[in-house]
Amino acid sequence: MSKNINIPFIGFGTWKLTGEVCVKAVSKALEAGYRHIDTADRYGNHKEVAKAVKDSGIKREEIFITTKVWYTELNYRNVLGSLERFLDELKTDYIDLLLVHWPNRQIPVEETFGAFCELKDTKKIRYYGVSNYTIHHIEDIISKGYRPFVNQVELHPSFNQKELYEYCKSKNILLTAYSPLGMGDELKNPIVVELSKKYNVTPAQVILNWIISRGIAAIPKSTNPVNIKDNLKSLEWKMEKIDVEKINAIEQKPRLLNPPWQEFDY
Ligand code: A2P
Repeated sequence: MSKNINIPFIGFGTWKLTGEVCVKAVSKALEAGYRHIDTADRYGNHKEVAKAVKDSGIKREEIFITTKVWYTELNYRNVLGSLERFLDELKTDYIDLLLVHWPNRQIPVEETFGAFCELKDTKKIRYYGVSNYTIHHIEDIISKGYRPFVNQVELHPSFNQKELYEYCKSKNILLTAYSPLGMGDELKNPIVVELSKKYNVTPAQVILNWIISRGIAAIPKSTNPVNIKDNLKSLEWKMEKIDVEKINAIEQKPRLLNPPWQEFDY
C-alpha cells in the first residue's frame, strides 16, 4: 500500500486479453488472491472483467479496479460521458482509479482534470491519475493545481525509469509498472536468473519483488494459472538492498512500447 493511495501493489494486467480468455484469466487471478484488476476502454474488455468479478462472488469493495480514458476523449464532456459508459460496462457504481491512457497536449489540462475532480467529489471515482506521462507532462498538470495519484508507465529491469521514478517519488505520485516482465523478455536476464537461484524463487518473482521494493506497483499479465499464482507470491519475501541495487544497475535498453501517438519526447 502507498501513503497516498490505498492500492494493492500487485495488480492483474489485462491488455490484449479479450473474450473468454479474458474472463478465464481474470477469474483465475481473483481466485489466486489478486484484488486489483487493470483494464482500459481501449482494451475492449470491460464487460469480460465485469463478468469475472461478478462470477467470483467477491464483494465489489474488496476489488480495486483501474480503467483508462482514451487520449481523444479527454475534454470535459467526453470524460464524463466515458465514465458513465465505463460504469455501465463494468457493472459498478464507481471506479477505483481512472487514468488518462496517453497524454494529449491538444486538450487543456483543466478540461480533463476538472472532470476528474468532479467525479472524485461525487464519488464516481476514488482516485485519478495518468499513464505514459513524462516529467514535463506532469509539471504541466501540477502548474495548474492538480496532482495525479498515479503515473502508470512501462517499467522493467532494462527500462527502469530512474529519472521519472525519482521525480514521481518527490511529488508523492505512485508509479505503476506496466509490462513489468518486459513482455517476458526480462525473465532471461542473467542477473535476474542468478538472483532467482539465490532466493529460490522464479525470475518473474525476482523482477516483481524488485519493483515493489522500490515502492512501485506492478500489473503483470498472464493467461497461465501457474504464472498468475507465481506472480502474486512476489509479495511474500524480501530482497536484500544490495540485490535491488544489482538490478538497478542492469544495462538500459530502448522502451518496448512506442506507438505513433506517444509524446515521450516532450
Ligand atoms: P503467460 O501468459 O504464458 O504466463 P508483461 O506483464 O511484462 O507484459 O509479460 C507478460 C508475458 O510474460 C506473457 O507472455 C506471460 O506469458 C509471461 N509471464 C507472466 N508471468 C510469468 C511467470 N511468472 N513466469 C513466466 N512467464 C510469465
